[in-house]
Amino acid sequence: MLKPRESIAALSPYHSPIVSRAGLSLDLNESMAGCSPRVLARLRSLSAAEVSLYPEREVGERLIANFLGIASDQVLLTNGMDEALSLLFTNYLDPGDELLFADPTFVEYPMLGEALGASVVRLQSGENLALPGADFLARISPRTRVIVIANPNNPSGLAAPRADLLRIAESAPDAAVLIDEAYFEFCGETMIGETMIPDLARHPNLFVARTFSKAYGLAGLRLGVLTGAAEQIGYLRRFCLPFNVNAVALACLEEALADQAFVSDHVAQVKQGRERLAQLFDELGLRFWPSQTNFVLVRVGVKAKTFVESMQRRGVLVRDSSANPGCDGCVRITVGTPRQMDGVLQAIREAIAESRV
Ligand SMILES: Cc1ncc(COP(=O)(O)O)c(C=O)c1O
Repeated sequence: MLKPRESIAALSPYHSPIVSRAGLSLDLNESMAGCSPRVLARLRSLSAAEVSLYPEREVGERLIANFLGIASDQVLLTNGMDEALSLLFTNYLDPGDELLFADPTFVEYPMLGEALGASVVRLQSGENLALPGADFLARISPRTRVIVIANPNNPSGLAAPRADLLRIAESAPDAAVLIDEAYFEFCGETMIGETMIPDLARHPNLFVARTFSKAYGLAGLRLGVLTGAAEQIGYLRRFCLPFNVNAVALACLEEALADQAFVSDHVAQVKQGRERLAQLFDELGLRFWPSQTNFVLVRVGVKAKTFVESMQRRGVLVRDSSANPGCDGCVRITVGTPRQMDGVLQAIREAIAESRV
């Protein structure tokens, strides 16, 4: 009988992360502000030739390299950051090699590691959900081949100090250390934030990944970026499919990058929205984690499932995060537009009141 590889057969059956689209989708950290009008105009202007010819990823890589201030041989454009993660893990993890990360974090890391037959080593953050930097240093071994850290993290929304990340990268010179900056644009008071991209020059084992799915509002186009040392990116290029990023996404890239005003307006609105959520949670006496992203994690004090269902009845989809280690009773709520947030805050009040009766 035909059988898949053992590590694949052992995986749990696939379930789409999209539970429903009936309601306001605040469960997937997508942009509720849509995307730049300049991107939409470019989409509408596409010619037959642009869609009938194979895409040239390298043109997009030069644009990104220029934008990030690095060389284009340090950039690999991918089909969403998902693909960057998959390529990087595949490049370094043989069966039995160790993939190291700290819970709670992005659920795709263990899924990908397990699919490759890697030994998945999970550290646990403390009650404050901060990155357990010292635990990483203690756990790094010659078998550690990939270390992955989302900064800021999903689902906590917390950012880790750059010094801690550098120490981890320096303590594991034989491991690929990937800093997942999916939510970078929402971080800090300014757009500058604490990216690790400038550190690539001095750390040949360091990688930084970005996505256009969040602040740029292009999740449907699937556009991700992996950066690292040219030599290492070169290995990934050897087996990355030549046309992994489609022509439509590539055609939009230049406009997306050019419209930084759209990105900063959206980020400013998200920061206000997450502040409104924080104020409400304070008022309701709920524990939440101060977010540097486009979502907020909150412990709802009742069964997370009950709260999620109650929100759904009010037309708002939020993510039950209670299965993430350390997130008992927690729900993750993406920030909507200012208008949407009026209704969302009201729905939260009602859902909490209902569940406390
Ligand atoms: C931490 C983190 N990394 C990566 C991704 C994947 O992003 P993309 O849409 O580019 O595949 C997500 C998506 O939610 C995420 O939360």
